[in-house]
Amino acid sequence: MATAAGVACEAEIVRITVDGLEYRLHAGPSLLAALDQIGVLMGEVDIPHYCWHAKLSSDGSCRLCQVEIDGQTGLQTACNTPVRDGMIVHTRSEAVVRARQTVLEFLMLNHPLDCPVCDQAGECKLQDYAWRYGAPNSRSREPRRKLEKRIDLGPGVVLDRERCILCRRCVRFCREIPRTGELAVFGRGDRSVIGLFPGVQLDNAYSMNVVDLCPVGALTSRDFRCKARAWQLESVEGVCGGCARGCNIWLDVAKGEVQRYRPRRNDAVNDTWMCDAGRLSYAEIARSDRLDKAWIRNQESVLEPVSVASAISEAARMLAGLVAEKGAGVIAGIASPHATNEDLFAFKRLLDEIGTENSGLAVPHGEADELLICAEKAANATGARAIGFEDARSLLERIRGGGVDGIVILGHDILTAGYLDDETLLGKIDSVILIDTHQSSLMRVAQVVLPARHLAEKAGTLTNCDRRVQRVRPALAADSELLTEGEIVHRLALALGLNGFEAGYDLPRVSRSLAAAVPPFAGITIESLPSDGAQLVSDGGEKGAVR
Ligand code: SF4
Ligand code: SF4
Ligand code: FES
Repeated sequence: MATAAGVACEAEIVRITVDGLEYRLHAGPSLLAALDQIGVLMGEVDIPHYCWHAKLSSDGSCRLCQVEIDGQTGLQTACNTPVRDGMIVHTRSEAVVRARQTVLEFLMLNHPLDCPVCDQAGECKLQDYAWRYGAPNSRSREPRRKLEKRIDLGPGVVLDRERCILCRRCVRFCREIPRTGELAVFGRGDRSVIGLFPGVQLDNAYSMNVVDLCPVGALTSRDFRCKARAWQLESVEGVCGGCARGCNIWLDVAKGEVQRYRPRRNDAVNDTWMCDAGRLSYAEIARSDRLDKAWIRNQESVLEPVSVASAISEAARMLAGLVAEKGAGVIAGIASPHATNEDLFAFKRLLDEIGTENSGLAVPHGEADELLICAEKAANATGARAIGFEDARSLLERIRGGGVDGIVILGHDILTAGYLDDETLLGKIDSVILIDTHQSSLMRVAQVVLPARHLAEKAGTLTNCDRRVQRVRPALAADSELLTEGEIVHRLALALGLNGFEAGYDLPRVSRSLAAAVPPFAGITIESLPSDGAQLVSDGGEKGAVR
């Protein structure tokens, strides 16, 4: 045999041959599922399929996955044929090729062929498979079936019935994953159509996953419709920042902007799903309230725009003056659970080197469910706690008591978490230095405001609710005046002349320092992190994750 791929576990292993190559697989699941488990499906082993999906029950309705198996009569569907030891499978025999052509011809009989105006064009499995496995010409002369072209199924999803190939993935998703069951097949035979049960809308918290699941352009995202063609998009691996789950995502970029988020498969985190709120949260990147310049409060008590370098110098001057006059104990810091592990480690080192123990963390909370959505509405509260930031309530008490004269605040979570109704309390502090991605009412009491990069504009790592450290990469090139929180506090530390901050912020070096200094991160560096992440090695004494 030419190669052998296989599973790590030696128990229940069988050997099969596919097109002359031997594979070692777990016995039991279907041929498609077993090949998917070892990562060769649609790579080394090409078995086209529509209705089968790795995370849904088997349907066996599309008949595209037919293969030939030695010793068995006729062709078998790979999606519901269990793997058995010694199986010899052929995916390119004459009979298989002919069967695929027939299935595709049947599926195309009534298809509208409106690829030029279809949002799915360029990422459509009907296009792809018809091109790769279909017959070169249509034999059909009959008029095509006419059906509704635009049905609003719910707030996020639009159905084009003419394009549907009745694979039922959308139906099974709604029944099996959110278990809301809004969709069904109505009618019989060639009158069958996808539709909603009477009086129901497709508005569950995960509804837009059916758009990713639909192999054709029948289900499209209302948000993404007509925004960009698939071939214009560049996809960058990232992590959703909407809650502590840290769902793995693709950030699809065109025209210098993120056009959409899509789920990226990670079986240890989000399978192949994400929630609608997280999916649509990309809009915050280019929102009109993004901070894009630095500000200093002038002698008339008005914020005026300045360069980032000037704002950092002014912040350093304020903090140094307070330390010289009153000691480091009057300085405090509030961390953001939206910042990366590296940003937070740099911030913790800044506070440690200044010599203050006054720090806190505020984490916004909201609705949670049993599937993915966590109550903590930020991606890195677990990482912040592991690095040493504790709940900000005791720090707020200290501020109320007049014990803080200078504070560095990352983000405005202290407001969104509901720890403060407004900025009034912080207005009692002489020197408020705010580092944030978006404008907030904290600017009213800040003496210095510094703009920070969004998660989509920077590299780093985040620690999710299950203590999994995952990497983010910049999908967008940020303006040179826009730095990460880590870079800003590093420059602030340099301006203060603090120990241990070498010239130039170097993310891999910060990551290695984090791994060396904070026990739970031992052995985890940004350069060595696999694309599906790595677990924190121990709890290091920090408080457990709150979902
Ligand atoms: S709408 Fe899409 S996912 Fe649903 S049955 Fe039709 S082709 Fe399949
Ligand atoms: S569950 Fe949380 S991390 Fe996942 S997509 Fe939704 S908001 Fe984002
Ligand atoms: S994938 Fe096997 S029948 Fe559809």
